[in-house]
Amino acid sequence: MEFPKLKNKLVLAPMADISILPFRLLCQKYGAAMTYTEQLSAIAINRGNEKTLKLAERSREEEEVGLQLFGRNPRVLLKAAKKLEKNFDVIDLNFGCPSKKIVNQGYGSALLREKDRIKDIIKTLSKGLEKPVTVKMRSGFKKVEALELVKVMEESGVKAIAIHGRTKEQGYFGKADWEIIKQVKEAVSIPVIGNGDVVNGEKAKELLDYSKCDYVMIARAAMNNPMIFKQINCYLDDKKEIEIMKEDKIKLFLDYVELCERYDFVNFSNLKLTALNFCKGFEGSKELRVRLMKVKTKETLIEAVKNF
Ligand SMILES: Cc1cc2nc3c(=O)[nH]c(=O)nc-3n(C[C@H](O)[C@H](O)[C@H](O)COP(=O)(O)O)c2cc1C
Repeated sequence: MEFPKLKNKLVLAPMADISILPFRLLCQKYGAAMTYTEQLSAIAINRGNEKTLKLAERSREEEEVGLQLFGRNPRVLLKAAKKLEKNFDVIDLNFGCPSKKIVNQGYGSALLREKDRIKDIIKTLSKGLEKPVTVKMRSGFKKVEALELVKVMEESGVKAIAIHGRTKEQGYFGKADWEIIKQVKEAVSIPVIGNGDVVNGEKAKELLDYSKCDYVMIARAAMNNPMIFKQINCYLDDKKEIEIMKEDKIKLFLDYVELCERYDFVNFSNLKLTALNFCKGFEGSKELRVRLMKVKTKETLIEAVKNF
């Protein structure tokens, strides 16, 4: 199966502790054409870990959703993917996470140094699954080495590549390298999803025009503002710019709470984190932050955001 043709250019990135079902639905409502789960451990899925399986829930209301897995053993990854593939449109492999905990176990970006293993993983999953297998990667581990890798990935059966234009060494520092996104797009004939530093319509257009990538993936800017997809879609369609007011953000948070309740995802620390993320950058944000540090219940948290 091929990578689905998306209704617009915008994709919500996988984000640990953020990309849960209610958040994905909110981003979809405001125009994300596709979303991903956060990276989930193949081992934990196979063991039936409850918390992981909850994070792997998908709603019928959702349009295109990718399940992102991390692991390094092809058979373990295949088993986990087989268990859940019927619920998802795409099975995505994480070859990009730079966190020490992940890299030290040989997962995420550590795999960028293991070309043969990458080949083996992709071939095993592509053969064994019905859904398309995709990859999300960084430009390299210590240095840029994506070009060689993406050709191997394509030959092994991958159906799309999302590339974050930073090496593992760069973490989140410095500017994302869009040149490598352009080079990857020239090197392969499958869809390429460009990622890194897209924060508004101008940047999205710049990345699309410069690299000719097929889609743009957004992480941090969406974490603070799921309405960014609407703003960028308007910009790309040459429509009037949308300004987001404090009231919009409050409503967004209340909608998020409702979705969490509907899908049984209520978690106090996640709600607090989301309130802080959504309310960043407005007058009164600092005061709200101080208040939120003290709240102890969902009700007082909601009240504080309403009074923001
Ligand atoms: C809080 C957070 C969690 C993330 N978790 C994941 C993850 O689970 N899987 C993954 O592939 N990338 C993860 N990333 C990386 C993003 O998907 C993305 O590649 C990166 O933030 C660059 O995009 P941006 O400039 O739009 O933020 C995470 C990033 C952030 C900020």
